Amino acid sequence: MLERHTREYVETRVRAGVLEQGTVDVLCDSGVGARLKREGLQHQGIELRFDRSGHRIDFRELVGKSITVYAQQEVVKDLIAARLAYQAPIYFEAEAVRIENCENEPEIHYQHNGQSHEIACDFIAGCDGFHGICRPAVPPNKLQIHEKYYPFAWLGILARTPPASHELIYTYHERGFALLSMRSPEISRLYLQCAPEEDISLWPDERIWEELRTRMATQEGFVLKDGPILQKGVTPMRSFVATPMQFGKLFLLGDAAHIVPPTGAKGLNLAVADVRVLTRGLVEFYKRGDREPLRQFTDRCLRRVWRCQRFSWWMTSMLHRFPNEDSFSHNIHHAELDYVASSRAASTTLAENYVGLPFDTPGLF
Ligand code: DHB
Repeated sequence: MLERHTREYVETRVRAGVLEQGTVDVLCDSGVGARLKREGLQHQGIELRFDRSGHRIDFRELVGKSITVYAQQEVVKDLIAARLAYQAPIYFEAEAVRIENCENEPEIHYQHNGQSHEIACDFIAGCDGFHGICRPAVPPNKLQIHEKYYPFAWLGILARTPPASHELIYTYHERGFALLSMRSPEISRLYLQCAPEEDISLWPDERIWEELRTRMATQEGFVLKDGPILQKGVTPMRSFVATPMQFGKLFLLGDAAHIVPPTGAKGLNLAVADVRVLTRGLVEFYKRGDREPLRQFTDRCLRRVWRCQRFSWWMTSMLHRFPNEDSFSHNIHHAELDYVASSRAASTTLAENYVGLPFDTPGLF
């Protein structure tokens, strides 16, 4: 396992925070769920907020499942600790520079401590993100790209203040989307829709809190207390899928193969689902010499990938203000929110996707 950054960097980098039940199950079944079970916050629903009113989507009641709020960097800490505990190596600050011979005897060339090294591999799991070297190692004429850009981004903050609600609040406002989330009972995570090229230096802390309060205000007088902002940054929004997700003995997983816009918190969960498919394929190969599950890796992953792409695109479209929306589109947009909030069938659709489509249903691995 090669990791470009330091252990400290990957263990503290702020990323996603919402785990589907299926993701929790995979982590627990893999023996890395003890702290997650103790410290994860179980949520039974979310709030959709628009026109200064909140509408609860009750996951437990609608689909009998819940989600767990547990920060991605905590998952990373648990995984690193488990791997080092069984004496499997992780090379930190190791820069993979080149992958060769994916179709026969793959090799990874990397730099570590100022020296060049190589690893001869049976298989390569390309878990190196959107900007990594694995996807570019596939010849461009073998890869199909499907993508969509959005005319906005998220300005995200991490703040030392207790979350103003015990569940997540997804807000649509004429001035743009806002999201209240959290990482613990003391730490809030909040996001604001902003321009894709937003200059963060124009957003002093007070302006951020003021804008959040404006967008999240309710008739009942919702109170959002501020606190020290520990971190802020701009998250781009993109939908992207590269197919096939494999080339010879190289497999692309998570953001190396696909990106979802963050609305609905699918990115990490989808990456774990890819890992689950690959792991099962490798077990079948090494235990029984059966190559078929590995051969089917792309097909097994892609159905879930596209379902999650659809859901993330839909949540993003429903909750954001699009520049230059004409009055017809604006009214349709509002009717969509109204329908989801007031129809049991429509809220169930949201809930079913949000908590995560189950593993092992026909065609969905
Ligand atoms: C968070 C991010 C999301 O994209 C989302 O839909 C919900 C929560 C978060 O970072 O907490």
